[in-house]
Amino acid sequence: MQTRSILAGVGGYLPERVMTNAEFAGRIETSDEWIRERTGIGQRHFASEHETCAYMGAEASRAALRAAGAGPDDVDAIIPATATPDQAFPSTALHVQAALGVTRGFGFDVSAACAGFIYALSVADAMIRTGQATGVLVIGSEVYSRILNWQDRTTCVLFGDGAGAVFLTAGAGEGSGDRGVLSTHLRAQGDLANILYVDGAVGRPDRPGHLVMHGREVFRHAVGKLAEAVELALSANGLSPADVDWLVPHQANLRIIDAVGRKLGLPKERVVVTVDRHANTSAASVPLALAEATRDGRIRRGDLVLLEALGGGLTWGSALVRM
Ligand code: ACO
Repeated sequence: MQTRSILAGVGGYLPERVMTNAEFAGRIETSDEWIRERTGIGQRHFASEHETCAYMGAEASRAALRAAGAGPDDVDAIIPATATPDQAFPSTALHVQAALGVTRGFGFDVSAACAGFIYALSVADAMIRTGQATGVLVIGSEVYSRILNWQDRTTCVLFGDGAGAVFLTAGAGEGSGDRGVLSTHLRAQGDLANILYVDGAVGRPDRPGHLVMHGREVFRHAVGKLAEAVELALSANGLSPADVDWLVPHQANLRIIDAVGRKLGLPKERVVVTVDRHANTSAASVPLALAEATRDGRIRRGDLVLLEALGGGLTWGSALVRM
């Protein structure tokens, strides 16, 4: 038997405020029809002032710990993925640590845009496998509403705010039938930085930064790269699409989700979709979708779940998990 990371609990948090496509249509030149047709998005949640990245990350973490029947004393590492932290430092991880009353271990943030949760999961899994941690909160938390250019209709309608978290514990397993993270697969291509980026940062006081995306270019890369990443995850474990109970994809665009599902030959009933209600919550989208489908009883213990995401960088990756 080998040490393996078990997904002991999953949780999510969405801001109370919901903004519909119709509300956007009253403010900028767009329509519910255009947004739905191109993206599948019908509404998104936007954070109010107190719903910061750290606040939402802590709320999602509380829910994940509750689902696991665990508490702050069981946590020895906190690894949030975010592009929209409350402060340059301390990291989101340490704000969450203090909010939860965790008194031991360590924490740090991971930056990999929309693929951030897969990256953070991969780091956490490696730390558990090597014995550096035994109870890890892996979080995706984002407030993209703070970095959107409200004059740019090609991007501002696509994103939403929220947070998701999983609590990983050290267990034992062997083969793809036992519970836990079976494998993670990360990729990046820095020479594609100019198709999806934020044009500023805290280190550039003249430019706080807005999200810029050349959507068509990103779309062009997304389907092929994501299909490649999920095929890699399956072949690394000697599995085929028929073995997959659920695909939990990054929720950027329904057309991309459908295309990856089709490439795998997975029926729509086995693909978790939240983009219609959450829009793209970047690093939060995969754990939020996982939390929703776990809470409503679709994803059950023993199910084989395939996760994938692609985002600015470009960064992308996949993970295969036995729940
Ligand atoms: N309302 C109405 N019309 C619009 C809007 C809008 N909100 N936005 C753009 N349009 C118009 C454009 O101006 C253009 O008009 P024109 O033909 O007169 O010039 C027309 O609609 C088509 O615009 P495109 O940008 O070519 O539309 P496209 O079909 O490519 O859809 C979209 C755009 C939805 C962004 C798509 O390209 C996409 O989903 N791309 C991938 C996004 C993605 O996956 N991102 C990954 C992660 S995000 C992250 O990491 C942060």
